[in-house]
Amino acid sequence: MSIVELEDVHRSFGRVHALRGLSLRVERGTIVGLLGPNGAGKTTAVNVLTTLVRPDAGTARVAGHDVVREPGRVRSVIGLTGQFAALDDGLTARENLVLFGRLLKLGRAGARERAAELLDRFGLAADADRRTGGFSGGMRRRLDLAVSMVARPAVLFLDEPTTGLDPTSRALLWDVVRALRADGVTILLTTQYLQEADELADRIAVIDHGRAIAEGTAGELKARVGGSVCHLVLPAETRDRAAEVLAAGHQVTPTDDGLTVPAAGSGTLTAVLRALDAAGIEPADIALRRPTLDDVFFALTGGGADAAPEPAAAGAAGDPA
Ligand SMILES: Nc1ncnc2c1ncn2[C@@H]1O[C@H](COP(=O)(O)OP(=O)(O)OP(=O)(O)O)[C@@H](O)[C@H]1O
Ligand SMILES: [Mg+2]
Repeated sequence: MSIVELEDVHRSFGRVHALRGLSLRVERGTIVGLLGPNGAGKTTAVNVLTTLVRPDAGTARVAGHDVVREPGRVRSVIGLTGQFAALDDGLTARENLVLFGRLLKLGRAGARERAAELLDRFGLAADADRRTGGFSGGMRRRLDLAVSMVARPAVLFLDEPTTGLDPTSRALLWDVVRALRADGVTILLTTQYLQEADELADRIAVIDHGRAIAEGTAGELKARVGGSVCHLVLPAETRDRAAEVLAAGHQVTPTDDGLTVPAAGSGTLTAVLRALDAAGIEPADIALRRPTLDDVFFALTGGGADAAPEPAAAGAAGDPA
């Protein structure tokens, strides 16, 4: 039995149909990455599983407990690190952790002991007695994660754990997440970063407009694009025309400097060059490379993963239906 299960879950907010029949499973002791662009429904899915939002239809279970009928039981086995850190900035890192320990009735000594252990574990021991108001983004995320671990949850939900972090802080956080999995913690994380899902997740569910559009290991998803990708670097003024010409026989994905098409076999390269030549377009460069998860996402959705984040109004783009 999967430790986390979503079965055909629907949830609307007014006119916005945020989840449209989302199904998802996470096996015990694994990391599943929920990958999708802004507004895909990632936070809503996490909120349903953490009992913060009720599903309109469908079922959601954590460790066999139904989120609607047994929310207390669900809460007793989970930890949540939300998209926006929930720390008291007037307190030090240690005080934040002790506070949670006391709320969890660990007792004064127990709470202090657990706090010290987690500060050490999450690389925060040196800054333990500084107020968190002065912490960097990466330190805040690590402390937020540490706070979620005070209760030793069996299942941890991480909503965009590294959004906005620099590469070093991101790598540090990845190490922490991997260490938690090594301890047997089951983790569902949401991310907009294909690389993050690729690095961390045992399995990846790609979601778009409230439903899963693909599921598998990173390797399986990459295989869906085919063996390799044909990458064309094109002068800016020829890109639209080239996309139009190639769209007749290929799945075209725009890139920063040109476009890519899946390379089904060795014939693709020749066919592409011939079609461009016939249209009088000369590529600046052409290469075959292994597909990335970005290619997978574009192949599945027709774009969207690279859309600029909208920090203030998540999903303000509204309901596409
Ligand atoms: N409380 C709410 N009230 C109204 N609309 C909401 C609410 N929560 C979510 N939505 C809408 O539901 C859709 C899905 O939002 P959700 O926050 O789940 O997406 P997300 O994948 O987490 O996006 P992001 O990457 O921006 O965090 C969006 O269109 C959003 O505006
Ligand atoms: Mg979100």
